[in-house]
Amino acid sequence: MKTPEFCVLLAYSSIEDMGRVVTVRYPKVSVAVLHQPSSKSYRLLASNSPSHRLVMTDYDLSLKSASQHAAKKISSTKMITLAVALIALAALVYYGTSNFDYWKKKGVKHEKPLPFFGNNLKGFLQMKSYAQYALEYYKKYPNEKVVGFFRAVKPELLIHDPEYVRRILFQDFAHFHSRGLITHKKVVQPLFRNLFFLEGDNWKLLRQRMTPIFTSGKLKAMFPLIVERAEKLKARTLSSAAEGATLDVKELMARYTTDFIGACGFGVDSDSLNDENSEFRKLGASIFGSYKVKDIFYTFLKNIFPEMTKNLPLLKHIEDDMKDFVGSVLKKRNYQPCGRGDFVDLLLECQKMGTIYGESIEHIRNGIPEKASLEFDDDLIMAQIFVFFAAGFETSSSASSFTLHQLAHHPEVQEKVQKEIDHVLSKYNGKLCYDAIKEMTYLEWTLKETMRIFPLLGVLVRECARPYYFPEIDLRIDPGVKVFIPVIGFHTDPQYFTDPEEFRPERFHPDEFGTMQKQLYMPFGDGPRNCIGARLGLMQSVAGLAAILSAFTVEPAPDTVRHPEISTKSTFIQNVKGGLPLMFKERKSTL
Ligand code: HEM
Repeated sequence: MKTPEFCVLLAYSSIEDMGRVVTVRYPKVSVAVLHQPSSKSYRLLASNSPSHRLVMTDYDLSLKSASQHAAKKISSTKMITLAVALIALAALVYYGTSNFDYWKKKGVKHEKPLPFFGNNLKGFLQMKSYAQYALEYYKKYPNEKVVGFFRAVKPELLIHDPEYVRRILFQDFAHFHSRGLITHKKVVQPLFRNLFFLEGDNWKLLRQRMTPIFTSGKLKAMFPLIVERAEKLKARTLSSAAEGATLDVKELMARYTTDFIGACGFGVDSDSLNDENSEFRKLGASIFGSYKVKDIFYTFLKNIFPEMTKNLPLLKHIEDDMKDFVGSVLKKRNYQPCGRGDFVDLLLECQKMGTIYGESIEHIRNGIPEKASLEFDDDLIMAQIFVFFAAGFETSSSASSFTLHQLAHHPEVQEKVQKEIDHVLSKYNGKLCYDAIKEMTYLEWTLKETMRIFPLLGVLVRECARPYYFPEIDLRIDPGVKVFIPVIGFHTDPQYFTDPEEFRPERFHPDEFGTMQKQLYMPFGDGPRNCIGARLGLMQSVAGLAAILSAFTVEPAPDTVRHPEISTKSTFIQNVKGGLPLMFKERKSTL
């Protein structure tokens, strides 16, 4: 038989001191004990164990009243805990669903959202990309001008009407100047202070300062570096093709692009085409490697609780790698521009020009914009280098590798492309150069046709900055609502592009490419916030393709998949799952 003291000792670790009465819970046994701190002793008040009842008579207690007292104490504690838990749950469910009548009240069609996840459960689980959602909704609601969507608890709007697209990107840009990718407006991590993510005045001032970096003069000056990389690409392909190997063109073009960014971005000869362990391959792998589970989880939390999670760092490993890398490059250059003409140099020039001043797009009083300014510090340089790497690398390398994949399956187009390359190069002593690339029109159409079928950014996004009204459908949207432009939907809609599944570069012939096509073909986005590196991306891709196709014919390899699966993991930039293997055969010029 156990004494109460024994019980208490037994369960001492789980004692909850509730004043004078102490409840002790031990597996299958609950006892209430009178705690007398002065004498450091305990007296048993109640127990649910029959063996303890005997003891209790020894203590001469009124078992009934003591047991009732203890039972009351125990059950009221449980009740309070239960009530608090229920209230917290109800508050959470309310928070997770309270906005779900947003589109219904405005008469906008949408799918039924799930608590907390909205319509984006598969997106959060990385089972569906932005582009795949956009295409699905575009096709599902062919007669709606707009379609509602909930990302977690936030309402978003898919724009289906071409006229609305023009208004958002151009006429009413003042309402839609941000992408809304930063979840907290004031606490912005250094890595996200880049041109793609920045918002409002900060974006405007930075774009104003950086636009001259991308003029055709600067592009022309960079071109020898591009040509040098393209020649290396050819040499490497030659050695692999001589062995009769199948080459993964995704990998091949990724190396070429990394190498180009190394040279044009940092003035470093990364030579990543040959070196598996080059710093740039590692940096590229760090940026484009799969996201850590922690980052996916943080992104989800930041969407639901932006204020509470504002200090949680995203992609910290990339930020640290970038900071180290850019820091060492800046140090080597003594933090001064040196006239090399690469991105770091041009950004140092931008910094040397001092604080950026301009007119605000956020604050307008009586129709007059207020003055705005932005400090050009070292973090800003790091963030821009990051975005050139991130925005320029995967887009260009995917566009050119997918073009090769298409050409392998369309030998008649490939032949036409090669004839054009041979013809143009014959005028320039067989050498690639800026002017030669500009003359390769059919090759450019081929690349453009690839980006029509497979736009690297399947959707464009803008965030509503001030209340906006769509008069035809009597719809008002509030600041903070994001709008999505389903580029992939327009590009593959037979209303605008006849036989959209057909790969036909001739559709870019000026006689065929009409106003509607011009307006809805947006592989580089459109309006004041379009791709700042569009010309560079295009020319660099054409140069790489020209170098390869002047020397090789590509054909499907035994393990080539005709229609490769699209990865659901990438959020914005579309990519195919796995590699793109092709056979390379050396060729002779047709001239
Ligand atoms: C084939 C290559 C490329 C494609 C398909 C592409 C595509 C795009 C698209 C669709 C956008 C969004 C535009 C919008 O929202 O309207 C964008 C933005 C951007 N791209 Fe590119 N891009 C390419 C190459 C490059 C290169 C080479 C660079 C830089 C070196 C670059 C830097 C940027 C930047 C900084 C932005 C943000 C612009 C802003 O918000 O002001 N891109 N790109």
